[in-house]
Amino acid sequence: MSQFRRIVVLTGAGISAESGLSTFRDGGGLWDNHRIDEVATPEAFDLNPDLVQRFYNQRRRAATKAQPNAAHLCLAQVEPQCEHWTLVSQNVDDLHQRAGSQHVLSMHGQLDQYLCVNCHKEGNITGELSTQDVCPHCHKVATLRPRIVWFGEMPLYLDDIMTNLMACDLFVAIGTSGTVYPAAGFVEIAKRNKAHTVMLNLDGTDNLLFDKTITGQASQIVPAYFYDELGFKR
Ligand code: OAD
Repeated sequence: MSQFRRIVVLTGAGISAESGLSTFRDGGGLWDNHRIDEVATPEAFDLNPDLVQRFYNQRRRAATKAQPNAAHLCLAQVEPQCEHWTLVSQNVDDLHQRAGSQHVLSMHGQLDQYLCVNCHKEGNITGELSTQDVCPHCHKVATLRPRIVWFGEMPLYLDDIMTNLMACDLFVAIGTSGTVYPAAGFVEIAKRNKAHTVMLNLDGTDNLLFDKTITGQASQIVPAYFYDELGFKR
């Protein structure tokens, strides 16, 4: 059994890359083909809601077709074996949930949920969102947006995440470029509280706050780290 008792894992788009979902900043990634200010801000939704809905409808379709890979499955397998486990994801797909992870703090929201900009109620999306939709709660037209945290908005579950970061003894970042805050600052919080810090990513990192870096494909290095190195059961 692992020497670590309180583990916080942060995942980014790289963990879903081998499931066929585009990352944001790799060559040909989502931010090569779309401008953030056209599709990922509240202002963009006010200005061109059709374009924003099309962008997220496409991403929802892709996520629905994708399957969890060995890295998602490994994290789900380890969760019940760990004394205190916190999985934070910047991803808006549901691959952790479909892999069997019980508690996922999806800090940037979820593609399969909507938010009404008029009454602020949330709900699940079964198909696509359009600017013709009527809110099932307040009955206004064209007020449903994807429940995604856009640039300029506050990420979700931050209190819970901070509490766990300040108490963890191991922090593992997987498949994230570490460019978007506050997630990019989590390693610093964990480190300040004397946690061991590990980066599992395709590329290395020059961030000196990580005690250990393992490079490779998530589907290989995540199981290798948790099963072979930390001793969790497959
Ligand atoms: P990025 O696209 O910025 O970074 C993805 C990271 O995954 C890169 O460092 C890649 O090297 C790595 N990677 C790619 N394929 C991999 C693989 N098979 N195995 C392991 N690692 C791999 O994505 P994020 O860091 O998740 O926010 O981006 C953070 C946030 O920026 C996103 O949540 C999104 C975006 O703007 C919002 O939309 C609010």
